[in-house]
Amino acid sequence: MTPADLHQAHWPTGFELAEFAEIDSTNEEAKRLADQGEAGPLWLRADVQTAGRGRRGRTWISPGGNLFATLLIRPQIMPSDAALLSFAAALSVADLLDAYVDPSRVKLKWPNDVQLDGGKVCGVLLESSATSEGLVDWLAVGIGVNLANHPGLEEPRTISLSDTLEGPAPTPLDALTHLAAAFAHHYKAFQTNGFEALRGPWLARARGIGEPLVARLPNEEIRGIFQGIDGTGALLLETDGAVQKITAGEVFFG
Ligand code: BTN
Repeated sequence: MTPADLHQAHWPTGFELAEFAEIDSTNEEAKRLADQGEAGPLWLRADVQTAGRGRRGRTWISPGGNLFATLLIRPQIMPSDAALLSFAAALSVADLLDAYVDPSRVKLKWPNDVQLDGGKVCGVLLESSATSEGLVDWLAVGIGVNLANHPGLEEPRTISLSDTLEGPAPTPLDALTHLAAAFAHHYKAFQTNGFEALRGPWLARARGIGEPLVARLPNEEIRGIFQGIDGTGALLLETDGAVQKITAGEVFFG
């Protein structure tokens, strides 16, 4: 494959695209559209977000040049299964970055961060609503990628793709085209073969398997050796010879 081939990506069939110069949050717009009956699959992309949301109620600073996108889909699955698509999102961002940097520099950090040279380059925020039968009504897969700039945070340390490139960063639309094509691939694999189709590829790129880490939960910190993830996406942590399953929290290495 030549570098030119690497940068070729084609918009996946069956997915619509709506673009905005400025919006509060692409996740919020996905929610509004879902409430109006939008069927999806629809990617939303904004040049700038004025109220970008991060996980745990944090703000996602959203200046021009970065990628801010949300996929709105209506999968007929349980919310717990839909949550597993955050792994597809992280894998897809890794695929996007592979087109620009050596893949060995791109690692996945549980649950759904993507790291470039050890810095946080991406965030994933899934939001959904359920039907009265308990299935997903709509799912918004929100993805932010630091292409041209990053907020300069220390904890976690942030980085942008442009920090690692000699030339300019890809445009947000080019990046989304890669991302959307990769997500379509991983989503189809998930629909066909379930979470196992994501678990293996995710583990192959996971940061720190076999290494010590700290899992920070709402009321405690657990130290252990990272053993991987199970079939529900839970983090497996070996502590004093026993393996604990962590279903929510943040992890820190080193
Ligand atoms: C995180 O905190 O790591 C998740 C950040 C998710 C940010 C993306 S940007 C596109 C979409 N719209 C939002 O408001 N948030 C997500």
